[in-house]
Amino acid sequence: MDFSLSEEHIMIRDAARDFAKTELLPGVIDRDNKQEFPQELVKKMGDLGFLGIMVDPKYGGSGMDAVSYVLIMEELSKVDASASVIVSVNNSLVCYGLEAYGNEEQKEKYLTKLATGEFLGAFCLSEPEAGSDATSQRTTAINKGDHYILNGTKNWITNGGRADVYLVIAQTDRDKGSHGINAFIVEKGTKGFDIGPKEDKLGIRGSDTHTLQFNDVKVPKENRIGANGSGFRFAMKTLSGGRIGIAAQALGIASGAYELALKYSKERKAFGTEICNHQAIAFKLADMYTDIEAARMMVMKAAWDKDQGNNYDKSSAMAKLYASKVAMEHTVEAVQIHGGNGFVKEYHVERLMRDAKITQIYEGTSEIQKIVISRSLIKE
Ligand code: CAA
Repeated sequence: MDFSLSEEHIMIRDAARDFAKTELLPGVIDRDNKQEFPQELVKKMGDLGFLGIMVDPKYGGSGMDAVSYVLIMEELSKVDASASVIVSVNNSLVCYGLEAYGNEEQKEKYLTKLATGEFLGAFCLSEPEAGSDATSQRTTAINKGDHYILNGTKNWITNGGRADVYLVIAQTDRDKGSHGINAFIVEKGTKGFDIGPKEDKLGIRGSDTHTLQFNDVKVPKENRIGANGSGFRFAMKTLSGGRIGIAAQALGIASGAYELALKYSKERKAFGTEICNHQAIAFKLADMYTDIEAARMMVMKAAWDKDQGNNYDKSSAMAKLYASKVAMEHTVEAVQIHGGNGFVKEYHVERLMRDAKITQIYEGTSEIQKIVISRSLIKE
């Protein structure tokens, strides 16, 4: 067993760390205030290869492994979780979904552009009445021979207004339940496909979240991903990888908050000494660091499972469940260590605390992760 990172992994981590510090940090508070999508920064992340991290270079990707992906996600998320969710969705829900389950024509046409950042992708599973209960899809895709007609509503879609390509899950044959569901590639601008207003969110305010409407949207048959009826499995397998990305995001939010709290506690004085010398603060730092290290090991283990070709449904759910809990609990502690300054935007920790909450909700709530983990334990 070897817990050290390779030289290549260290280089990748340091490149992401440098990008986060020099490019993401300067405007992060302003983007959060204004709910501003980091358009220019997304382009730069595409140039650096961060939008197609694990994609085969023959499709324009960076050809890196899942361990590299989580290292990049952690570093970006320490500073700007809005930027990192854009990266996560494009990489693990859209690029991975197409690379693993799309056909050669779909990869040539879409993946090559998504992996380089020329296109941005969105993953459309959630609906007003099908969030956690993802099999209850109300959006329909009626088979008309050479095309499908899509009707329905999708909610809380990351990159919703900014994407060029949308992977849309819809019900084709209700009698077949989850085996009657399909996944489709829908291009922005398709007639009948409308983007609703942007959501005003608690956290990750720089990311672009929308409701989408599909009114008699004609989608050619060649845009269906995989065999007829394979859409639910496609969504579940893709989400397992997505959960590794969100677990890494939660880890980054927690470690970013911890680093700020440690620095602050070594500078701020009270009762005649730096506050880190008071046991009340020192023990908080010890708890934070210990839990973050444990979360890091779980995130790395899930990424390693993916790289080894092992089943990662359970390890990704465990990593997300634990890392998101650590992120929520310890961003609150980071605010507490900062005292009054923690409540002020310029110290960053209040934003990290707000950003942490979504990691317990999207790509499967913590309660859903427990369903996935427990079912997997019972099956083993
Ligand atoms: N791999 C392969 N197949 C799977 C699978 C997996 N990981 N998980 C389920 N399946 C299969 C099952 O084996 C079953 O097939 P059979 O009928 O042949 O046995 C079928 O799919 C249906 O599965 P279940 O019976 O387990 O379905 P369920 O209704 O009990 O729900 C669930 C399962 C795990 C709760 C699922 O609904 C779920 O994951 N819900 C959460 C959805 C979610 O994560 N949404 C996030 C939205 S995306 C997002 O947030 C993106 C963003 O923009 C940031």
